[in-house]
Amino acid sequence: MTAPDLPAELKAALEAKLQGRSRSDAADRASLISRTYRDGGGSGAIRSEADALAYALARMPATYAAVTASLNALREIRPDFAPTSLLDAGAGPGTATWAAAEAFPSLQSFALLDANSALRALALDLGSRSLRLRDMKYRRGEAFAALADGEAADLVVASYMIGEVSEAERTALADLMWAKTRDTLLVVEPGTPAGYGRIIALRARLILAGAHVAAPCPHDRNCPLTAPDWCHFTQRLPRSRAHKQIKGAELPYEDEKFSYVALTRVPVARHPARVLTQPDITKAELRAKLCTPGGVAIATVPRRAKADYARARRWRWGAAVKEES
Ligand SMILES: C[S@@+](CC[C@H](N)C(=O)[O-])C[C@H]1O[C@@H](n2cnc3c(N)ncnc32)[C@H](O)[C@@H]1O
Repeated sequence: MTAPDLPAELKAALEAKLQGRSRSDAADRASLISRTYRDGGGSGAIRSEADALAYALARMPATYAAVTASLNALREIRPDFAPTSLLDAGAGPGTATWAAAEAFPSLQSFALLDANSALRALALDLGSRSLRLRDMKYRRGEAFAALADGEAADLVVASYMIGEVSEAERTALADLMWAKTRDTLLVVEPGTPAGYGRIIALRARLILAGAHVAAPCPHDRNCPLTAPDWCHFTQRLPRSRAHKQIKGAELPYEDEKFSYVALTRVPVARHPARVLTQPDITKAELRAKLCTPGGVAIATVPRRAKADYARARRWRWGAAVKEES
C-alpha cells in the first residue's frame, strides 16, 4: 500500500519553489485561502503564483493523504486493477494525479482539468520535475465543457472538488464524470457531514445509472447511517517543517478527515464489512462498529476467543474486514 506522505520528488519540488520567498507571506496567504474555504468561497481566492504555492504547501499533504488512503482501499478490494489512463477533474496543483501515479505503476497517460490558471501553472511546474508526469496534459477550463469534449479514462478522480459546484450543477457533473469513466470513478470529499452528503447523493445517483460500489461500502444498498452519524475516515500524515510553518502548527502530524466513494462499471468481489470507527478495546473484549450488507452491526469479540481476537486486533478505522477475519 502507498504511504500517506508526499513523494520525495514532490516534497522537494514544493520546497524548492518556496526558496527565496517569505514563509510568513505564504502562511498569511494560506490562512486567507482556508478562511475563504471555511466560509464556502471555494478556490476563487487562489489568484496568483504565490497563492497557488501557499495553497499547495498548506493543503496538498492532507488531500494527497486522503486520496492515497482511498486508493489503497480500492486496491485492497481490486488488487488486479491496472488502469493505464487517468482523468483528474478539478485537479488543482495535481494532488490526485501524484497520488494515482504512486498507487498505479500501470498508469501511462495523465489528463488533468481545472478552471484555475494559477493552480494549473503550479501543477505543470511540479509535474515537469517528474519523469512520469512531465508529459501530463492539463486543460484549463470549466469542468463541464472540458469533460464533455474530453476523452474517457480508465480511472477518473475528483478530489475535494464537487463541493465547489452548486447542488444543481453537481448532478450533471456526476453524470459527466461517470460518462468519462471506463472503469472506476473515485470521488473524495472533506470528512464533514456536508462532504459525506455530497458523496452519498452522487453514489445513489450513479448506482441508479448502473455503477457498483467498490469501496468503502460492502454493498450497493442505501447507506445505513442516519444523522447525526456520517460515514468518514481519517488519515494521519506527517508534517514537514515547511508545512508546520505555513500552517502555524506545532504538532509533527495532522489527521485529515475524509469521505469517499469508488464506483466501478462491473461488480467487484467485496469484503463482508468495513470498520466505521476506531474499535473500543476493554479488558474483556473488542467492540467494533461495522458497515455490512445487512446494515450497521456492532461486533463484540471477547479476548478469550483468542484466534478471533487476534484477527480483530488488526481492525482499524476504515479497514475492510476480510472473509477470514
Ligand atoms: C479544493 S481544490 C482541490 C484541488 C485538488 N483536486 C486537490 O485535491 O488538491 C478544488 C479545485 O476544483 C477546481 N474547480 C472547482 N469547480 C470547478 C469547475 N466548475 N471546473 C473546473 N474546475 C473546478 C478549483 O479550481 C480547484 O482547483
